[in-house]
Amino acid sequence: MNGDTFRAKKGLEGVIFDETAISEVIPERQTLLYRGYPVADLAEHCRFEEVAYLLLHGELPDTTAIKVFTEFERHHRAIDEGTLAVLRSAPAGHHPMDSLRTAVSFLSMTEPFSGAEDPPGLLRKSILFYAKLPTIVAADYRIRQGKNPIPPQSDLSAAENFFLMCFEQVPHPDLVKALDASLTLYAEHGFNASSFTARVVASSLSDLGSAITAAIGSLKGPLHGGANEAVMEMLAEIGTPDRARDWVLKALAERRKIMGFGHRVYRLGDSRVPTMKIYRDRVAEATGDSRWIAISHIVEQTVHDEKGIPANLDFPAGPTYALLGFDIPMFTPIFAMARVTGWCAHVMEQLSGNRIVRPLSTYIGPEERRVIPLEHRSS
Ligand code: COA
Repeated sequence: MNGDTFRAKKGLEGVIFDETAISEVIPERQTLLYRGYPVADLAEHCRFEEVAYLLLHGELPDTTAIKVFTEFERHHRAIDEGTLAVLRSAPAGHHPMDSLRTAVSFLSMTEPFSGAEDPPGLLRKSILFYAKLPTIVAADYRIRQGKNPIPPQSDLSAAENFFLMCFEQVPHPDLVKALDASLTLYAEHGFNASSFTARVVASSLSDLGSAITAAIGSLKGPLHGGANEAVMEMLAEIGTPDRARDWVLKALAERRKIMGFGHRVYRLGDSRVPTMKIYRDRVAEATGDSRWIAISHIVEQTVHDEKGIPANLDFPAGPTYALLGFDIPMFTPIFAMARVTGWCAHVMEQLSGNRIVRPLSTYIGPEERRVIPLEHRSS
């Protein structure tokens, strides 16, 4: 064996872990395809429900298929009292990703999630998670505000219903479309950290609930999904456009990472950014609030000039969510509501050709040595 065989691949960079038919990242063309369809086209022409169907079933639905799928999803949006009690008992000041992770773990033990995890059972449970996650996120938001959760309504789209459950009203269709498109853009992205986590958990033949719970934990980190919150915290800290350039220069001089920039796979630019920016700008125009856009332009230009690093999806998504009225700690939970479709697709794919994930390590600890009995060990 040559020396390279045992050289650790930090962050698994460049490692091809498995095959997938769910999505294809084409960095040289800054393109992302979900089952062959460009994500920008899906965001423009399809509702998130169709994209969820595509990821879970492999094909876009026809009118009959989407009717059946949507009816099932709408019928199963509600969450049980036990899961609501979990949310109500979360300590004050908790992060919503922690309550989401805990609630999903609890939810996965409830009756609708019982039954075999054969392919039809897995598909059914996947749609249940997709249906119920927005209800958890919205209920947690209401509880954090000291308000009662609003039950889901079955005559609204997923995005409309989410707004209703959060704010008691559905905004203008342009704002609903911006959220809907962001869910499509966030839904899937190859072997990212959280989807890989879900596959690793599934590979031991653990259950779907465990895989989704673990994936939520992975998504929470600021190098992954947590970045959309960190972006907004940064924009809020900068506060005004005139402070933006100096803020970035200082952060770079201190060798701090600028959140919402960089990507392991895209070095030229994130395929999802142009679409998200269109919706961000539309929401800014509709709400008459252009402050975050003005700061964003300067931050992006400065990072580009100084480091040549392009923005990723979290950079325009963060201010879009703020302009839509969501509070910052909800941003990553909203990401999870979308990505759960990708996670479930990955678990199903992993199990369709499973082999337990078990990589190697390069050992760098002490040489082999003898155990000295406790009474002979000097202090
Ligand atoms: N701000 C400043 N410098 C950055 C940067 C950022 N956001 N992202 C990468 N870099 C720099 C690194 O410091 C490193 O420079 P060096 O070689 O001088 O040390 C170089 O670019 C390579 O970055 P690295 O961290 O090794 O890339 P990675 O592939 O391991 O990590 C990310 C990818 C996404 C985790 C990383 O770019 C990052 O932390 N971005 C900010 C968090 C974020 O937006 N996450 C969401 C991803 S969708």
